[in-house]
Amino acid sequence: MLKCLLVVATKKIYMKKYLLYIICCIFFSAIIISCNNNVGEKKETFADSLNRKWWKEAVVYQIYPRSFKDSDGDGVGDLKGIISKLDYIKSLGVTAVWLNPIYSSPNDDNGYDVSDYRNIMKDFGTMDDFNALLKGMHDRGIKLVMDIVVNHSSDEHEWFKQSRSSRTSPYRDYYHWWNAERGKPPYRYSLFDVNHDAWKYDSVTNAYYLHYFSRKQPDLNWENPTLRQEIYAMMRYWADKGVDGFRLDAFQFAAKDTTWPVLPPDLKTDFVKYYAMGDGLHDYLKEMNKEVFSKYDVMSVAEGAGKTLEDAHNLVDEERHELGMAYPFDAVDLAKYPSTPGGEQYSILKFKEIFSKLDSAFAEKGWLSVFLSNHDQSRLVTRFGNDAPEFRDPSAKMLITFLMSMRGTPYYYNGDELGMTNIRFDKIEDYRDVATLNEYQYQKTHSGDLAEFIKRKAFESRDNGRTPFQWDTTTNAGFSSGTPWIKVNPNYAAINAAAQDKDANSVLNYFRKMVQLRKDNLALVYGKYTLLDKDNPAVYAYTREFNGKKFLVLLNFTAKDATVKTGIDISKAKLLINNYSTASANGSLKPYEAVVYEL
Ligand code: NOJ
Repeated sequence: MLKCLLVVATKKIYMKKYLLYIICCIFFSAIIISCNNNVGEKKETFADSLNRKWWKEAVVYQIYPRSFKDSDGDGVGDLKGIISKLDYIKSLGVTAVWLNPIYSSPNDDNGYDVSDYRNIMKDFGTMDDFNALLKGMHDRGIKLVMDIVVNHSSDEHEWFKQSRSSRTSPYRDYYHWWNAERGKPPYRYSLFDVNHDAWKYDSVTNAYYLHYFSRKQPDLNWENPTLRQEIYAMMRYWADKGVDGFRLDAFQFAAKDTTWPVLPPDLKTDFVKYYAMGDGLHDYLKEMNKEVFSKYDVMSVAEGAGKTLEDAHNLVDEERHELGMAYPFDAVDLAKYPSTPGGEQYSILKFKEIFSKLDSAFAEKGWLSVFLSNHDQSRLVTRFGNDAPEFRDPSAKMLITFLMSMRGTPYYYNGDELGMTNIRFDKIEDYRDVATLNEYQYQKTHSGDLAEFIKRKAFESRDNGRTPFQWDTTTNAGFSSGTPWIKVNPNYAAINAAAQDKDANSVLNYFRKMVQLRKDNLALVYGKYTLLDKDNPAVYAYTREFNGKKFLVLLNFTAKDATVKTGIDISKAKLLINNYSTASANGSLKPYEAVVYEL
């Protein structure tokens, strides 16, 4: 353009011709500049709309340390045991591990009763073991997410010992107390108490303390700013060590109405309605974000996500600076103990509706965890699939296909990658879980039907998900050379990691393939989700689309042949994975068949 101006100045004679030239130059330059701007803008919008984060692209593997691998023969899993299995964990392709609590604890609730937040539980090892574990994970490109249990502590924590010692202790307000001269406090339901009563009388100071969980898990008072700062400092202590994220246990219950109003009787059946998302919770999370999360590149997720999708969304809306990821229970809560033998455990239509609603709530902003099992649930394949011998394998693979192809961060609980099943204890003596044991006592003292209770627990007790990991066919499934703290599922002879590792068609190797498929395709992480054949009562069908790539996922959630109508021509589609040796055609699907196509 400059050149063209010079020519105009010196050779007036060609004025007209060059005037035309100038106009063209200006016109085309304007187009080029505007195009460049648009490209820039597009790039920005593209990246912005993704808001990529490592924890969004992660596949989280949850390890229950007590049941994973015992290295010293005391019957309890430990950190050295996990270290010895790091190559196995790496081989799964997972990129992050969520470790259930490993802090000092008297183990009333298997570590969810912390007596020292800055030390390691003796059963699990030492801080040196922890440092070695963290390094071993990082060396393998795996992130570590810690479980932070701060709705309550153990009654053996120094804070509680001080707090209960006198009404004037500086630690008194670290917990919730009700002085007995005021009479009995308004009823609060406790999830784990033998009497369902969350207030426990303590004669030392003639007062009641609050415990939403067991008596040995007194609730911390989040209204106390000194306590809050102690907790943030503790979290920074772990973040400074290099941990990569935090899962906040029961945190939706942390903020309480300390005017202690009388609550309606349905509190017992719907405690979440009254306990979750109390006033102040968002402020505590904002403060925690400022004091901890914002200072590190960490994943942050809290157990539970309130009562509504709006609650869930508000916890993770990026503009609010609270948490990174929501963890709602809507879908997990669907699988119920069937009241009639062989009865429906959950409705597939409802299942699809819940996941579709969740997806839409987080489509624009915020992020979601995708999971169907954890240490508080019985086994994935038993609850959501079918653990009968002929269906265990295809249904476990179908569930893997589902969890690895949804938008959100998938979580996989240890053992589910083998399709481990419920042990179905038939007597109370076999149980170890405080929730099951104390509820049994409650039923006993309240004339409950104990035989029915045992039948129900065989389906739903969390101990089903806590039996030792099945490594191989040696004694105790290779978990421990001692007596395991809880019985090993006798089916380890058939279901174990060593056998599945060797079998190219095993659930384990299917899991590895599906994890890789997700990692290779951002569309499966960020892609738009569209539900197809919505009213199909057997098949869950959807597409995932992103940046010119489109995937079709077809999942038969039943034990019968099924058909699906997607209206999509798959004649030219590429079959990426399926859980039978050949994929069915013409919209028909075999029992629990799962297929993923690239369109
Ligand atoms: C939720 C945890 O996941 C569960 O295992 C524990 O018993 C309760 N919170 C109490 O900490």
